[in-house]
Amino acid sequence: MGCALSGAKSALWISLLHGFLFIIAGSGTEAPLDDSTADVSSRRFRAEFLQEWQGSTDAPYFDPSTPRNITGLVGHPVRLLCRVKNLQNRTVSWVRHRDIHLLTVGRYTYTSDQRFEAQHKPRSEEWALRIRSPQRRDSGQYECQISTTPPVGHAVFLNIVEPETTISSGSELFIQAGSTINLTCTVRHTPEPPSSITWTHGEQVINFDSARGGISLVTEKGLKSTSRLLIQRARGADAGLYTCGPNNAPPASTRVHVLSGEHPAAMQQGCAKSSLDRMLSISYCILSLFLLRKPSFNFQFGT
Ligand SMILES: *[C@@H]1O[C@H](CO)[C@@H](O)[C@H](O)[C@H]1NC(C)=O
Ligand SMILES: *[C@@H]1O[C@H](CO)[C@@H](O)[C@H](O)[C@H]1NC(C)=O
Ligand SMILES: *[C@@H]1O[C@H](CO)[C@@H](O)[C@H](O)[C@H]1NC(C)=O
Repeated sequence: MGCALSGAKSALWISLLHGFLFIIAGSGTEAPLDDSTADVSSRRFRAEFLQEWQGSTDAPYFDPSTPRNITGLVGHPVRLLCRVKNLQNRTVSWVRHRDIHLLTVGRYTYTSDQRFEAQHKPRSEEWALRIRSPQRRDSGQYECQISTTPPVGHAVFLNIVEPETTISSGSELFIQAGSTINLTCTVRHTPEPPSSITWTHGEQVINFDSARGGISLVTEKGLKSTSRLLIQRARGADAGLYTCGPNNAPPASTRVHVLSGEHPAAMQQGCAKSSLDRMLSISYCILSLFLLRKPSFNFQFGT
C-alpha cells in the first residue's frame, strides 16, 4: 500500500484509510475472503460507527493538556506528543497535514523518510512522533488520529526555526558627525546563548583598548541575546561596514554613513532612527541630502 496519498487534500482519504485499517484490524486472523466475513466486518463497522455517534462513555479521547504548538530548532530532534485515554483496541497514527502523508501507525513508522520515528512505550498512553533532524520545511500542522469511525484527530503545530541575527538599524544607518552610533544586535533561536558576540568595523575587531576611545559594548545573554555597541562622537573615520558575529549564529552587517553637513538637527531627526521606520528614514535622508544641495531650500532645515 502506498503511504503518500499526495494530492488528495481531503480528510475523507484519512477516513477511508482508517476505515480500511479498522477492517483489517477488526477481522483479526480471519482474512475477509468470502462474502460472509466481509458482511461480518461491515456489520461490525456499522455497529462501531453508531456506538461512536451515540457518544458512548468508553470512547477514546485525547488528553487536552499536551502542547499543541511546538517550536524546534533546525537539526535538533523534536518530539510531537499526544496522550490518548481509553484507547482500548484502537490504533493511533500521526499524519502530516500538508500532503496527508501517513507517518506512523501504532508503534510502526510508516513513512520512508528516515528522520521520522514512532515512539511508544507498551501500556503507556503516550504516542509520540520524533523527527530526528527537522528542517524549516517540516514546519506546519500534524495530526494525531485515533482509528475510530470516523477518526478523531488532535492537531499539533510544529514551527522549526533556525539561528538568526539582526541589527536594529537594518542595512544602513545615517548619522550626523558628533552624535552617537548606537547599534543593537539581536541573536535568536540558538540552541544555547552565544558564548561570544564579536563586532568588527571593516576588517578590524572592535575592542576597548583601541586608540579610538568612547566605545562601549553591553551584552545580555538569554533566550534572546543582545549586544549593544555605542560609539560616541562619530566622525568620518567611523563610517563603514559594522558586523555583529555571534559564535553560533550567522553574522549580520550594517553600513554606517557619517554625515558632516551643516544641518545637524534635520539630519539627526531624520536619519538616526532605527528598524521600524527605517525605510521612511532612508527616503527622508535621501530627500534631505538632495534638498541640502540646493541653497534655496536651506532655510527649511535651519537650526
Ligand atoms: C474492539 O473491541 C470491541 C469490544 O470491546 C469489539 O467489539 C471491536 O470489534 C474491537 N475492534 C477492533 C478494531 O478490534
Ligand atoms: C506557535 O508559537 C509560535 C512561537 O512560539 C508563534 O509564533 C505562533 O504564532 C504559534 N502558532 C500558533 C498556531 O499558535
Ligand atoms: C540606543 O538605542 C536603543 C534603541 O534601539 C535605546 O533603547 C537606547 O537608549 C539607545 N542608547 C543610547 C545611549 O542612545
